[in-house]
Amino acid sequence: MMNRWHAVKRLLPILAGLALLLSACGRADLSTLQPQGPIAEKQYDLMKLSIGMMTVVVVIVFLILAYVLIRFRRRPGQTEIPKQVEGSHKLEIIWTVIPIILLVILVVPTVKYVFEFAQDYTKDKNAIQVKVTSHQYWWEFDYPQLGIKTGQELVIPTTKKISLQLNTVDVLHSFWVPSLFGKIDTNPEGNTNKMYFEAPKAGVYRGKCAELCGQSHALMDFKVKAVDEAKFDAWVQEMKAPAVLPQDPALAATFEKKCLSCHAVGDKGGTLGPNLTGIGNKQAVAGVLLNDEAPVEENLKTWIKDPEKVKPGSKMPKVTLTPEELDGISKYLANYKLQYDNGK
Ligand code: CUA
Repeated sequence: MMNRWHAVKRLLPILAGLALLLSACGRADLSTLQPQGPIAEKQYDLMKLSIGMMTVVVVIVFLILAYVLIRFRRRPGQTEIPKQVEGSHKLEIIWTVIPIILLVILVVPTVKYVFEFAQDYTKDKNAIQVKVTSHQYWWEFDYPQLGIKTGQELVIPTTKKISLQLNTVDVLHSFWVPSLFGKIDTNPEGNTNKMYFEAPKAGVYRGKCAELCGQSHALMDFKVKAVDEAKFDAWVQEMKAPAVLPQDPALAATFEKKCLSCHAVGDKGGTLGPNLTGIGNKQAVAGVLLNDEAPVEENLKTWIKDPEKVKPGSKMPKVTLTPEELDGISKYLANYKLQYDNGK
């Protein structure tokens, strides 16, 4: 009894871990099992088809096994060797033909979808073209048709196809929004992967890096924000509007010197780090400090004060700022909000 309890106690952490793991399956914005777009729906259909067929096969095989074990068991007093059966043509044909039929049922829709998902929309003028570039540990989104570059939050219209071309500037990463589409690797320039997707339902979907790419791989999160066409057009206009710098000239000078060498706001700044335009109403700071869990200003402060602590190995340096400058810049960025989504 004692031993059994020990075994249970040892299993508890594993069970708790599994429960935790499975609890993520319930989120509509982060689950392959709750598809929110046509690509993810078809991928989910393939999963249901293969898992369904496998389940039927497993159940039938185990039923036959159980029947055979009981029906042909050794009975009391039985000493002779049972009749040996081999080389039944009928049986061999049955267990060869059935798997072939099952494979054909799996192959037909799979191959059909493989070609459908591989369609190239990069020349389609009606699709929104986005060049996705992965960095350790953030995502850059470049809209060449619109002249916009942003980071960490891919804003898209619900009404159009989104055509992606993906590359990395450092190691291999993998771009994945579980509720919208499967994973796709980002390779160095010269080996560009392409894909397309649609998000007909407005909402924010969580994205993940799905390729071990360094110590902050698990923190390389991003968001896809799908909005209606009018909001999308408003977003484009706001992204292209001139930069709004801090009102205090001294703070503006510090911000330009210390932040805009890598980051951009509006039409000012660099491209080494994510574009900060409208960071005040993004879902997260640095991809992982969620703004519904702490005020955006707090998250900005936490991040700027010690980036290494939030995202180890990130290229964001610890800039020297006085406490007043840190407060001022965090407050300014927290209030840098775009109005396209009613200021949300
Ligand atoms: Cu990038 Cu993992």
